[in-house]
Amino acid sequence: MDADLINGLYIVAFVLFIVGLRLLRGPRTALRGNQVAAVGMAIAVVATLLQDGVGDFGLIALGLAIGTAVGIPSARAVKMTAMPQMVALFNGVGGGAVALIAYAEFREAGGDLPLEELIPILFAAVIGAISFWGSNVAFLKLQELTKARPKIPPILNAGLLAIAVGLSAGIASGAEAEWVFLGVLVAASLLGVLAVFPIGGADMPVVISTLNAFTGLSAAAAGLALDNIALIVAGMLVGASGSILTKQMADAMNRSIGNVFFGGFGAGGTALASGPGEGDEDRTVRSTSAADVAIQLSYAERVVIVPGYGMAVAQAQRTVADLASELERRGIDVTYAIHPVAGRMPGHMNVLLAEADVPYDRLKEMDEANGEFGRTDVSLVIGANDVTNPAARTVTDSPIYGMPILDVDKSSSVVVLKRSMSSGFAGIDNPLFYAENTSLLFGDAKASVGDVLAEVHSL
Ligand code: TAP
Repeated sequence: MDADLINGLYIVAFVLFIVGLRLLRGPRTALRGNQVAAVGMAIAVVATLLQDGVGDFGLIALGLAIGTAVGIPSARAVKMTAMPQMVALFNGVGGGAVALIAYAEFREAGGDLPLEELIPILFAAVIGAISFWGSNVAFLKLQELTKARPKIPPILNAGLLAIAVGLSAGIASGAEAEWVFLGVLVAASLLGVLAVFPIGGADMPVVISTLNAFTGLSAAAAGLALDNIALIVAGMLVGASGSILTKQMADAMNRSIGNVFFGGFGAGGTALASGPGEGDEDRTVRSTSAADVAIQLSYAERVVIVPGYGMAVAQAQRTVADLASELERRGIDVTYAIHPVAGRMPGHMNVLLAEADVPYDRLKEMDEANGEFGRTDVSLVIGANDVTNPAARTVTDSPIYGMPILDVDKSSSVVVLKRSMSSGFAGIDNPLFYAENTSLLFGDAKASVGDVLAEVHSL
């Protein structure tokens, strides 16, 4: 097929990828952005299949059929709250595919490849394998299939990296045996598992976005090896946006990336690490009722709603928006304070609140919101826990120590909506719940907010 036509189709696809990415910047346009980028990807796939010498069309059709049969039903069936795990799995599959492509290319050439192809192939194999195994471990953690956080000595990971790089250097300088390449894959795979396993607490956002960036970079490297511009551009877009997201997530957690992967964040923190501990029998929580909360809210001038993962679980966003509208109708100033890692994926709360038609100017980012808690009458914490935990400010061996939080404890009173005294994602106790100005309204967030709204109506 004419090379100009194929390159023309690729350029159309790239434009659609970039426009799609731009539309993904806001929750209102994100759906369209996804569709635009998907059309771009379809065009890129067609352009690739039009190239001469693509290979066995029967096998390609079989692969497409299997991928479609697995992908579409699982994407349709997945619950909104399980989306982060799904993204981790999809990301891992991308990295795994890249590592396999690298292996297949190496085998096909019998290891005899020019250096300019060999280096990207080795890079793709190492990073793709790390991404595949790391993403699978991230999936297990997000799905809460494992809470294990073994302490892995950094020297072990450094050793595995040295083996992967050393064997790669051996291949680049002439070792053609297949077992050497398999050794690279095994060392990188072990590194992926061992690097992610000890990480937990609240720093999974950094891990997920780093793995996402890795998959993009490995795909771009595979594109260089296969001389496929579409793979290079798409891989670099994922790599670049994933890297920016990683930086933003790390900033939100007040952590360096090195610290998350090699430092004490995941490994540290036994204090407060598993719910109430010694001496806690003295502490009591104040349980409240929907009627009391309604009275408190109706006397307030300023109310800040702090949504968290529990709002997503309860799917309470519409009821929350209804309550906010009712309070606003009564002249009360209501805003939402959004922590960058509230929920389980970047922008989780923004998406839910946009779905409930909450005006965007009501949403305040953490820095802005924190300036205003001091003059807030009631902070209504709806299924948020870690992102409000004051231990992050003071308890030096807490696994979330140093993470910026929403300073809800500075408001005159705090009402926390949750079902029990269970901890949040980081698995630690929250001193906020025992503070004098805090009361807890126990129950499913949607039902509780509905009850409060009914009580407000009756006032
Ligand atoms: P969490 O700390 O996970 O707390 C969620 C709270 O919601 C829990 O205390 C839970 O208590 C409550 N809850 C659950 N279901 C509920 C329901 N149906 N009704 C009422 N309450 C319910 O949430 P957060 O404050 O949003 O913090 C997010 C955490 O996840 C952080 O540690 C963050 O690092 C981590 N994380 C974030 C991301 C991204 S990118 N956002 C990705 C991975 C991990 P009960 O069980 O007692 O109800």
